[in-house]
Parts: sequence; C-alpha cells; structure tokens
Amino acid sequence: MRVLGIETSCDETGVALFDTEHGLRADALHSQVAMHAEYGGVVPELASRDHTRRLLPLISKVLDDAGLDRRGLDAIAYTAGPGLVGALMVGASTAHGMARALDLPVLGVHHMEGHLLAPMLEPRPPAFPFVALLVSGGHTQLVEVSGIGQYRLLGESVDDAAGEAFDKAAKMLDLDYPGGPAVARLASQGDARRWRFPRPMTDRPGLDFSFSGLKTHTLTTIRQLEQQQTLDEQARADVARAFEEAVADTLAIKCRRALDATGLTRLVIAGGVSANQRLRERLEGETAKRGADVYYPRGRFCTDNGAMIAYAGAQRLLAGERDVIGRMQATPRWPLEQLQRP
Ligand code: KG4
Ligand code: ZN
Repeated sequence: MRVLGIETSCDETGVALFDTEHGLRADALHSQVAMHAEYGGVVPELASRDHTRRLLPLISKVLDDAGLDRRGLDAIAYTAGPGLVGALMVGASTAHGMARALDLPVLGVHHMEGHLLAPMLEPRPPAFPFVALLVSGGHTQLVEVSGIGQYRLLGESVDDAAGEAFDKAAKMLDLDYPGGPAVARLASQGDARRWRFPRPMTDRPGLDFSFSGLKTHTLTTIRQLEQQQTLDEQARADVARAFEEAVADTLAIKCRRALDATGLTRLVIAGGVSANQRLRERLEGETAKRGADVYYPRGRFCTDNGAMIAYAGAQRLLAGERDVIGRMQATPRWPLEQLQRP
C-alpha cells in the first residue's frame, strides 16, 4: 500500500510517501523557522498561510522523487491533531480534497503517535513492547507501548514541556527561536562542573515532570550574573550547559524508573528534543548499565515530518481504518490515551 503522508500541525510542512512493501520512498519538508524567528515563536495565522503555499508543491516533489503519478497512490494520511487548528485544517482539507478527487481512502493521524512510531522507519526498529519518552515542544510524556494504539500513560509534565523549557531558556540567553538546537550549541562550549541546577521532581517517587522550577532557577542565575556584570560568553555557555544537564538528567532518571516500573528493556525516545545529543548520551549510558536498548529516529525525523505520519497512517489504513469521506478531522487537543488498537 502506497500512502502519502501530510504533516501541517505546527511550523513544518512535511510530506512523504511510505510503501508498506518497500518502505519509505520519498520525503520532503519545508520549515517555517526563519519566518517565525522574527517574532520569537510560532505565529499561528502565518503558519496556516504558509502551509497553504507550500503543501501542493511539496506533494508534487514527493511524487516526482518517488517516480509516481498521483494515480499510483493507494491512500492518504494526514495529521488530525493535536496542533494549531488553522494549520491542521490546511493538511486535513488538502488530504480530503485529494482523496475525493482520486477516490482514495483517507485517515487523520495523531501527531504524537507519529512521533512515537518514527523509530520504526530506521534499519533497526524496536519491537513491542517498549517504554516511549515523547519530548516535543508541546508534550513531555512517558508511555508504555504494548502495540499500535495500545498506550498507557505513565507520567507527563505538570507544566512546561521539555522543548518549551529549552525554548524559554533560549530566550533568557538571547538565543534565536527555536531554542533547543541553539541552547545545545551554546552548551557544548560550557563547563558542566560550574553549577548543578535542580533536577525537578526526582527526589520523590513518580513519573511526572515539572520544568517551571528549573526555568526560574535558570533566570535567577542569569540575573545574578548580570548584576555582578559577569555574564560573559563563557558564563552564558556554562548556564546553557547546566540547564541542558539538568533536563537530560531529569529525563534519564524518570526513564530509568519507568523501565523499572514496567520491567521492560526497550526505550524509545522521539519528538524534537530527542535530537539532543547530550540526552541521547545520558539515555544510552543509563540503558547500557541495565542491559536495555535505546532507539530513536534519525535526526530529521526527530522533529516534525511527513514520514512519521505516512508510516503511522499506513499501519491503521492497512487494518481498514479510514475517515468518512467529506468529514475531515482537525482536533487541537487530543489525548494520546484515547487512541485504540486499529
Ligand atoms: O516535535 P517537534 O518538532 O514539534 C512539536 O511537536 O512540538 O519539537 C520541537 C521542539 C522545540 O521546542 C525545539 O526547541 C526542540 O524540539 N528541539 C530541541 C533540539 N532540537 C529541537 N531541544 C533540545 N535539543 C535539540 N537539539
Ligand atoms: Zn511534533
């Protein structure tokens, strides 16, 4: 089954073609980062308009790259939520329009299920069951995954998501949006021994996260350095490093606990923050110690992309799931645990 995947939930227009027999055939992405950078974050209305401009040319490119005509498609999958409603509607209406014109099945996919299954596109995919750490701009969740659509939430952030915390730390350090990669770059020049920032909610049992205290601590440190007039380039890098260490360590501690609690030996990390090198090192160290394995998507499939949507959609379409024609879905809030087995 050849499935076209369409992702437009936030600030990336992603399109891909996944073939259930031959794997990923093509994928293309347009990032709106440069457009939103001027405003220090995503402007929803600009995001929707840009998806409208980019989507059809990207679909043509993916079909060309795959050497396919639109009539060679068997089905269409699109991100139905969670995300920005206007942005979601661009992908949903395009997918439904194409499905009607080409007489194809079409299915709305959960964005976080896409992230969660993205490591399945790699040469060494994880087998079920596993623990998944989903760390993106909007979500920080630990999930026990027994199969597709079989998700048990183990813990989540009670305030900011990990990616959001990176983005806010970046603002405090006068770095550009999106903050994650910028903080990571600066942190690589920093000295990890200078400060030890708090590891929130690790001193008590449980698998929930909180990043607001760490955010305040980061801001207080920066203010003090400013007052002492010692916020030079090295000090900024040291702050970035202490922040990154605290986030990576906190996530690693909770992953260890989640593996203990479930007795599982496979850990998947996905979502934008899973691109973070320091986090990967920490999780590899943590899992190696206990004979467990860690899996993540290739760099460009950590952040939003069409391939993960094509893959997740294909699994459900193969099982016969589809939208009612003419009834597109755009669901800004959609808890992952509501999903069911296909
Ligand atoms: O999954 P994603 O592309 O979009 C959402 O679904 O939210 O995640 C974007 C988030 C942003 O907050 C960004 O700052 C963060 O992922 N991010 C990173 C890195 N690359 C992206 N955070 C830390 N280190 C990185 N290398
Ligand atoms: Zn995402």
